[in-house]
Amino acid sequence: MLRTHTCGELRPASQGQTVTLCGWVDTYRDFGGLVFIDLRDRYGMTQVVFTPSNVDVHSLARTLRSEDVIQVSGTVALRPADMVNPKLATGEIDVKGATLVVLNKTKQPPFVPGVSDDELPNEELRLKYRFLDLRRPTLQHALILRHKMAKAVRDYFDEQQFLEIETPMLGRSTPEGARDYLVPSRVHEGCFYALPQSPQIYKQILMVAGYDRYFQIARCFRDEDLRADRQPEFTQIDVEMAFVKQDDILSTIDGLMARLVKELRGQELALPLPRLTHREVMERFGSDKPDLRFGMELIDLGEIATTCDFGVFKNVMAGGGRVRGINVKGAAEKYSRKNIDELTEFVKQYGAQGLAFFRVKEGTLDSPIAKFFSAEHQQAIITKLNASPGDLLLCVADSVKVTSAALSALRNRLAKELSLYDPQTLAIAWVLDFPMFQWNEEENRWDAEHHPFCQPVEEDIPLLATDPGKVRAQSYDLVCNGYEAASGSVRIHDPAVQQGIFDLLGITADQAELKFGFLLEALRYGAPPHAGVALGLDRWVMLFLASDNIRDVIAFPKTQKAADMLTGAPSTVDTRQLRDLRIKVDVKH
Ligand code: AMO
Ligand code: AMP
Repeated sequence: MLRTHTCGELRPASQGQTVTLCGWVDTYRDFGGLVFIDLRDRYGMTQVVFTPSNVDVHSLARTLRSEDVIQVSGTVALRPADMVNPKLATGEIDVKGATLVVLNKTKQPPFVPGVSDDELPNEELRLKYRFLDLRRPTLQHALILRHKMAKAVRDYFDEQQFLEIETPMLGRSTPEGARDYLVPSRVHEGCFYALPQSPQIYKQILMVAGYDRYFQIARCFRDEDLRADRQPEFTQIDVEMAFVKQDDILSTIDGLMARLVKELRGQELALPLPRLTHREVMERFGSDKPDLRFGMELIDLGEIATTCDFGVFKNVMAGGGRVRGINVKGAAEKYSRKNIDELTEFVKQYGAQGLAFFRVKEGTLDSPIAKFFSAEHQQAIITKLNASPGDLLLCVADSVKVTSAALSALRNRLAKELSLYDPQTLAIAWVLDFPMFQWNEEENRWDAEHHPFCQPVEEDIPLLATDPGKVRAQSYDLVCNGYEAASGSVRIHDPAVQQGIFDLLGITADQAELKFGFLLEALRYGAPPHAGVALGLDRWVMLFLASDNIRDVIAFPKTQKAADMLTGAPSTVDTRQLRDLRIKVDVKH
């Protein structure tokens, strides 16, 4: 070892000891006489002092700059009482530098790790110099938490007889619904592997193979539009169990969440986690991933809207639409006319035609459209929305889809603006009974809402033939603070039911055989009833850190355009490599 201690380790008890430290020069202060260096590694920071009496070492110390890597030997000394730094774990001591070796002289860095959050350079530059960025305490903290979470996950499942089993990266296209990343085969000309969108099919096959408790911390790849909570390459905590029902999966994951909250935050999580149906959350929050840290629920105003004199509301009701509103408590004076115009533009992004607003007075409503509402109607709105003077009521009239999308987005935005919750809270709940299918307008067919291997709710099976849109799946999501943080289902283990679902999805027997023949075949050889779930590990780390940027919890993430700024991937390749793969590229660079 080139060091005897880390930079976070020394305490007054080591006084008088000769030690050797290695690390990065965080800051240097040159007082002409004494040179002070804060030496940093991932464990902490130690102050080193060089005195002029040690001429050579002192003059070398004067050449040090931020981020140089050095090795220092010297003795540990107590700092005088007025020099103690209570903010540093090592703040009671310093090291009197006796020898100094510069292990690596740095180029002028484009930014230093100590930079404050508001002085951070743009993210592209940070990603390009990720080795510097990763020296920042915020990112170190994120990676340490990520490590601890992965370890707690492994401990939890191991204690419950789960086996971690790896599944291939080079496989066949899986049906998660995103575009695949393809890998050309050299040996099989013109053929491709697909990187897994998830280990879905393999984990089901492991159940048929008798590994009745499986988990894996698995890398997944999806070529889809990226957002702040989505990466093309991400990590799942993937789980599958045989001989179980939905409840067993939910309680297993409840236990996992309680363990993580306890180990990583030192808090107790009340179990069982709340369980809400899809229908209920869509009605109350307009979203299948509601943020449950605050109320401001969506309220139906259909009855009032039908009988009032406001043409917009009446027409929407007559056309089979809905009028729904939210009560922004105490916000009547916080939002000016101009602010409300901004909110109106905001909801228009979600398809709304407009945003009706009312400021609540004593028993009446104040609004440009108040004249269309009789005194009784105004009172009815106040009662329905549980409003008091000073509240701001916001309403959207449109289809169920648009009112849901617009008001749920508005609800999230306003709660953030008005600080209606503590950002450190984790509000975790299950959403159950998702619809099995959704209608694809563009392609004029049914699509699987989750994936085509979900078992329908037993009592809904007759609806498969008559009203597929009403069929509920035995599927469930775990939501937290407005994110979908896990998703899973009970699987079909009967090849005939599976074929029935494929038929409904317009996947012919031939296509099914071609695409998932191996799974259907496996289901014919002693397939146990099974169910599973996958949690987004990156998302959970984000949530535990109260961060809203998934890139901050991944060591080497991709940009929004799926590029790796550090290595320059993706890149062009040699013509020779392409020739080996028999690939012709039809793009000029
Ligand atoms: P699903 O596709 O819902 O289910 O994915 C499971 C969880 O993975 C996370 N996730 C992502 N995280 C970051 N970036 C992405 N691009 C991304 N996509 C998904 C989410 C999500 O809830 N095979 C099924 C699971 C099962 O049925 O067992 C599956 O992959 O947190
Ligand atoms: P207008 O009659 O278009 O001038 O609209 C009068 C008010 O009703 C404005 O505040 C609009 O934003 C609002 N409004 C218009 N259409 C809708 C709608 N579909 N839902 C809710 N409010 C609306």
